Amino acid sequence: MTCLFPAGAPPGQRLPPGHVRPRCRDWPDGGSQAEAWLMAQSSGPRSLEMGTAEMVATAPLLPPADLSNRIARTAGGLTLRLRLLLAFGLLTLGVALVGGLAMDRLGALNDKAAVIRDNWLPSTAVNGQMISAIKSHRLAEARLLFAPEADLERSLQALDQRNQDVEIARRDYQQYIVMNTEDEQRLNAFDQAWAAGQQYQMRLRDLVREHDRDQAIALYNGPLRDADTQATDAILRDLAFNVNQGRATAREGNAIYAATRALLWSAIGLAVVTGAGLAWLAIRTIAAPIQAMTLATEAFAQGHYGHPLPCTDRRDEIAGLAAALAVLRDKSAERDRLIATRTNEAQSLSAAKTEAETNLATLRQLQDQLVESEKLAALGSLVAGVAHEVNSPLGVAVSASSTLALETKRFLAAIEAGQLRQSTVDRFARVARDSTDLLERNLDRATTLVQHFKQVAVDRASSQRRRFNLGEMVSDTLTTLGPMLRRASYRVETAIPDGIDLDSYPGPLGQVLTNLIQNAELHAFDAALPARERQTTGQLLRIEASRSARDVTLRVQDNGAGMGEDVRRRLFEPFFTTKMGQGGSGLGMHIVYNIVTGILGGAIAVASTPGKGTTVTLTVPLMAPHNADDEPSSSPGEPG
Ligand SMILES: Nc1ncnc2c1ncn2[C@@H]1O[C@H](COP(=O)(O)OP(=O)(O)OP(=O)(O)O)[C@@H](O)[C@H]1O
Ligand SMILES: [Mg+2]
Repeated sequence: MTCLFPAGAPPGQRLPPGHVRPRCRDWPDGGSQAEAWLMAQSSGPRSLEMGTAEMVATAPLLPPADLSNRIARTAGGLTLRLRLLLAFGLLTLGVALVGGLAMDRLGALNDKAAVIRDNWLPSTAVNGQMISAIKSHRLAEARLLFAPEADLERSLQALDQRNQDVEIARRDYQQYIVMNTEDEQRLNAFDQAWAAGQQYQMRLRDLVREHDRDQAIALYNGPLRDADTQATDAILRDLAFNVNQGRATAREGNAIYAATRALLWSAIGLAVVTGAGLAWLAIRTIAAPIQAMTLATEAFAQGHYGHPLPCTDRRDEIAGLAAALAVLRDKSAERDRLIATRTNEAQSLSAAKTEAETNLATLRQLQDQLVESEKLAALGSLVAGVAHEVNSPLGVAVSASSTLALETKRFLAAIEAGQLRQSTVDRFARVARDSTDLLERNLDRATTLVQHFKQVAVDRASSQRRRFNLGEMVSDTLTTLGPMLRRASYRVETAIPDGIDLDSYPGPLGQVLTNLIQNAELHAFDAALPARERQTTGQLLRIEASRSARDVTLRVQDNGAGMGEDVRRRLFEPFFTTKMGQGGSGLGMHIVYNIVTGILGGAIAVASTPGKGTTVTLTVPLMAPHNADDEPSSSPGEPG
C-alpha cells in the first residue's frame, strides 16, 4: 500500500525486461499519489524538456503479445461480472431468507393474536357476562327481600328476568367456552351450585310472600349466598383460567415479537455491514482502478507515455481495459513519434525548399546575367564577324579605289607631260573598269552584310503588321527572286491553299522565305548544271502550306544535298557557314530563327538527310503576337 512505484522504477524510466508497472492494489487512495506525479509531469520542467522521442522510448511496458495473453487470460479469472453477480445474488438470497423468516414469525404472532382475539377474549367476555348476570340476579334477590307489598310481583318478575339472564349467559358459556373436561367440570360445579341456589330461591320467594322477612334474610345471607358464591366461584375460576391463558398467549406473542425484532435488527446490521463491505469492495475493485485508469489515460492523452499502466496484474474486465489502453497508448506513442518525425521532416523539407528557392533565385539571376553576357558576347561576335566580313569587301574596295586613284594620277601625269599613248589609255581604261567593278561588287557585298546585320537585330520598328494572304505573299517573294530562279537548275513548285489569311508581319516572313530559297540555291543544288536541264535533273524546291484553327504550317523542302547532323545542330548559330568565302556569311538561318520565334511568335524545325534533301518547317500563328510597336492593321491587299 505504501509503494506506488516499485523500487528502481520511477515513472518515466524504462523498466528492465520482465518488469511490469505498479499493480492495481498499489493505488490505495484512488491514485492520488499518481495524480500528484501526473501534475508534476504536466507542470514540471521535466515534461517540457522531455521530447516525444524520449516519452515514446519509455512507453513500451508490456509487449503486445503479453497484452493479448493478458486479455485472453482475463476470461479465465473471476471476472468483475461474476463477482458482482455473486455479491448481489448472496445479498438477494439473504434478504429473501430474512424476509421469509420474518414473515413466518409475523404469521405466528398473528396466530397468537387470533387466539387471544377469537378464544380468550370472547371467553373472558362471556365469563364477565355470566358473573355480571349472577350479580344482577343476586341484587334482584336482595330487592325482593325489601320489596313493598305493591312491588312484590314486579320484583318477583324482575327476579325471573334476572334468572333468565343467567340462563342465557349460561347457554352462551356452554356454547362458546365448553370445549374440554375442565370446562365441563367448571360448568357442572356452576350447574350444581345454581340448581341448589334455585331451590333456595324458591324457598325465599315463599318466605317473602309469607312476609317472613327475617327467615328470608337469614336464607338470603345463609345457604342462598353460599350457593350463589359457589356458582360465581366456578365462573370466576374459569375467568381466571381464561385470563391466564390470554396472558400466556400474549407473552408467547411478545416472545415471538422480540425474537423477530432481534432477527430483523440483526439482518439490518448484517445488511449495513455487507453493504459497507460491498461498497468498499466496489470502490477497491472498480472505482479506484477506474480512477487510476482515468489518470493513466489523461497522462497518455498529454503524451506522458512513461506513466505507469495500472491494473495489469488483474484477471478481470479491468485488466482487459488496461490491456486495451496499453495498445491505445502504444499506438498513440507510435503516432506521436510519426508526427514528430513528419514534423521534423516537414521542417527539414521546408528549410530545404527555402534553400532551394534561394538557390533557384540566385541561379535565375546568374542565368539572366549569363544570358545577358551571352547576348552581349553574341552581339560582340556578331559585330566582330560583321566587322570582319565588312572589312574584307571594304578592304578590297579601298585597295581598288587606291589602285584607281594611283592609275588616275599616272594617267593625268601622262596627259600633262604630253606623253599619252594608246597603251596608257588602254591600261587606264582596263584598271578603271576592273577597279570600279571590284568597288561595285565589294561595296554591294558590304551593303548586303549591313542589311543582314539589321535583320539580325530584328528591327521591329521597321516591320509593319497587316492582314495579308499567304499565297500572294509567297508569289510576290518568288517574283522578287525571279532573276535568280530563272537561272536556277531546279524547279520551284508551290502548293498553297487559297484563303490562308494572316494578321502578321509580311516583310519578315518574306525575308525568311527568301533566305530559305537562297539556301536551297546555294547549298542544296548543283548550280553548275545548266538551267535548261532542270526538267530532267529532277531537282525540286517545293513550298507548301497547311493551316489549323490557329496556326499555319509552311514547309520549304528541297531534294538536294542535305546536311549532316553536325551541320544541322549548328544551323542557327550566327556566322556558321559551310560556304565561307564562297558567298556564305552564316547569318541567314540565324536571322530566320530570330524572325520566326521572335516577331512571328512561331517555331521552326529542320529535318535533313545527306544526299536526300532538307525540309524546313515553320509553324506560325495566324495572328502574330502583338508588339508594343504595332501599328493598327490594315486590310489584306493594302500596301505594307
Ligand atoms: N537547304 C540546305 N541544304 C543543305 N545545306 C544547307 C541548306 N540550308 C543551309 N544549309 C547549311 O547551313 C549553313 C548555314 O546556313 P546559313 O543560311 O545560316 O548561312 P549561309 O547560307 O552559309 O550564309 P548566308 O545565308 O549568310 O549567306 C550553310 O552554310 C549550309 O552548310
Ligand atoms: Mg544562307
